[in-house]
Amino acid sequence: MTRRDLLRAGAGASFGWALNAAWPLVNPVFTADPFSAGVASGDPLPDGMILWTKLIADPRKKQSWQSGSVAIYWTVASDALMRNVVAGGTAYATPDFDHALHIDVRGLAPNRWYWYQFSAPGFVSDIGRTKTAPATAIPQVNFALASCQNYEHGYYNAYRHLANEDLDFVLFLGDYIYENASCYCGVRRQPTTAAVTLADYRNRYALYRTDADLRRAHQMFPWIVTWDDHDVANNYAGLTPATGANKTFAQRRAAAYQAFYEWLPIRLPAPMTSASARIYRRLDFGPMMSMYVLDCRQYRSVQACGNWDQAPCAGMYDASRTMLGAAQEQWLTAEMAASNATWDVLASSIMLTKFDEYPGNGEIYNMDTWSGYEASRLRLLNSFAQTNTPNPVVVSGDSHASWACDLKLDFRNVNAPAVGTEFAGTSISSDGDGSDTPSDVAAQLLDNPQVKFYSGKRGYVRCAVTPDRFQADYRVVDRVTVPASFVSTKASYLADRGRPGAQRY
Ligand SMILES: [Fe+2]
Repeated sequence: MTRRDLLRAGAGASFGWALNAAWPLVNPVFTADPFSAGVASGDPLPDGMILWTKLIADPRKKQSWQSGSVAIYWTVASDALMRNVVAGGTAYATPDFDHALHIDVRGLAPNRWYWYQFSAPGFVSDIGRTKTAPATAIPQVNFALASCQNYEHGYYNAYRHLANEDLDFVLFLGDYIYENASCYCGVRRQPTTAAVTLADYRNRYALYRTDADLRRAHQMFPWIVTWDDHDVANNYAGLTPATGANKTFAQRRAAAYQAFYEWLPIRLPAPMTSASARIYRRLDFGPMMSMYVLDCRQYRSVQACGNWDQAPCAGMYDASRTMLGAAQEQWLTAEMAASNATWDVLASSIMLTKFDEYPGNGEIYNMDTWSGYEASRLRLLNSFAQTNTPNPVVVSGDSHASWACDLKLDFRNVNAPAVGTEFAGTSISSDGDGSDTPSDVAAQLLDNPQVKFYSGKRGYVRCAVTPDRFQADYRVVDRVTVPASFVSTKASYLADRGRPGAQRY
């Protein structure tokens, strides 16, 4: 039996790139646990999901397996003790993807829990737990929103509590890493220089994944992930970083995209080695919910009015500027038009709701958010009616605060009806402990009646979706600057089917 035959027989599910013949098959002797980065799963389908792990080298000395192809066995079982194995095979971890594995398992039953494990000579990984998506109508889907996990700013107390929730999956909305040099400001340290090269980005993920609470959150649930700016560089737009266009940014972005792919359990049509990579995609949860995971970074026009927080200028309204890019925008409109789901959920890394930061007479907007892309936002909001999408819900991250908002075609008109609902999640750790309503925000909120709820504490949002309502529980932790904290539900808001807008529960 050739190696190729073995792969066909054993791991029909693994990606073609695992067959790369450029790497000699090696029989490794591991001197440290190669599975110390943990296990993960993601992008659940009714019949399978991506299973992920990555071999980690012993930092004390370079080993021969690091330049070769390593055979890894994987198994999926229907029980937590891995007794009733229902799928398995061999996959090959290769140096071109830094020995990361993405197994695209199929043939499983819908809406079921599964457990999985990897093995290499002398070592087995943790047992991960994962779940397939439903194929038919079910009473409820539960998931959590998470985003913005700056390693220096705080401990991942929120993940410790999230891991104990009853969830079908975790939706991660960007800023999995922060690329910047250490701020020397937090409770932990990241490198003293910003990530620029592929090695830098790989090291940044490796550092973040040393956190046991983060590893456990991956171990317990499948994740659906998208990226925001810090996964590459602060406030970048397409091929332009906030510091201005430069010749090397395309290369830097490609490196960041590759490391993102290597470290996260994402299903991609092709390996991510080119400068561009399509990650926008749709995932269905029976007839109840369709989820559109958006990419709000790769295709966007450069920020208007000078970027950051600015007064409006003509560029903000320029209809030729785009947030999603023409192809993604057309894809989204077509998908929503074709959808018969009760709930159409748009996963946007950044907030869609307009938020005027100037308290009183005057306007200031964060030009990096949808507010800086007014024409794009209006096209999206109008598409809800045009595509016959009765219950659009936008879930977002980036802002490091919790929000429940009414989406409106005219946010400045208090009497305008809501055309959708936005539930925005706070950060896991970014910006430290935070407070519920800082005084500056309290003044701003008076000017923004479309915002029904705000909290500047850290945490996550627990979402419970039924055929009749979409409920968001804002789970907040007291502290992230100490390595343990209580969690509580700060507030719950919901959208009723057929009645867009956030209501207090
Ligand atoms: Fe962030």
